[in-house]
Amino acid sequence: MKLFVEKNYDDLSERASKILIEEIEKNKNIVLGLATGSTPIGTYKRLIKAHKEKGLDFSKAKSFNLDEYVGLNGNHPSSYRYYMDNEFFNHINIGKSNTFVPNGKAENLEEYCKEYDRLIEENGGIDIQILGIGTNGHIAFIEPSEELVTCTSIVKLKESTIIDNSRFFKSIEEVPKTAISMGISSILKAKKIILLANGKNKANAMANILDNDKISTKVPASLLKLHSDVTIILDEEAYSETRRR
Ligand code: GLP
Repeated sequence: MKLFVEKNYDDLSERASKILIEEIEKNKNIVLGLATGSTPIGTYKRLIKAHKEKGLDFSKAKSFNLDEYVGLNGNHPSSYRYYMDNEFFNHINIGKSNTFVPNGKAENLEEYCKEYDRLIEENGGIDIQILGIGTNGHIAFIEPSEELVTCTSIVKLKESTIIDNSRFFKSIEEVPKTAISMGISSILKAKKIILLANGKNKANAMANILDNDKISTKVPASLLKLHSDVTIILDEEAYSETRRR
């Protein structure tokens, strides 16, 4: 596991985007695993800049997103499809049909989840997966629990996640209670993983991962320790509790 602690969010985004740009330049047919939330925005901005100013080419790239709220269609401003289109896809030359975000309105959700994992495999698997982390240590929408889902599944969101994510909705009542989320093995199958975390509110979750050699399903992101190519990029605030312990 490689760890970078950067001074601030800008430096974190710079570091993450450099790694991604290098990978995209090396492999035109790259399959990207993408995350939503506020954390990767700075990274997406830099990738867009590299596309506009240096011609970074996404024409043969594909992407798979980690998750989506059940019940929201892609036109809903709080859906992850809407976020991805607006924050990233609309500004680069990726074919929309090469971008996959789970469909929160799929008719048969369980069948659809299986199909999503199949689709990732059919496309050769994810080359590089970007992850953020929830304040409770979740990745994607894999919430802390005695047992974790291995494959893409329908998951129930924790109250704390609903509260955290309500800032992206008009009111907390609007936040869906369930989501489609890639499972822990779907994520661990990625060839390379980059986990990003910034801000004080992530410090505790990060310390629960970094200050010991253990894994726990109560801290889903700790399972990343099982992967052989993980890079964690934090800012000073997200590292503060690890430093203190
Ligand atoms: C959501 C997403 C996660 C994301 C997390 C952190 O719950 N499902 O993929 O990592 O939020 O979000 P933020 O980056 O806004 O802190």
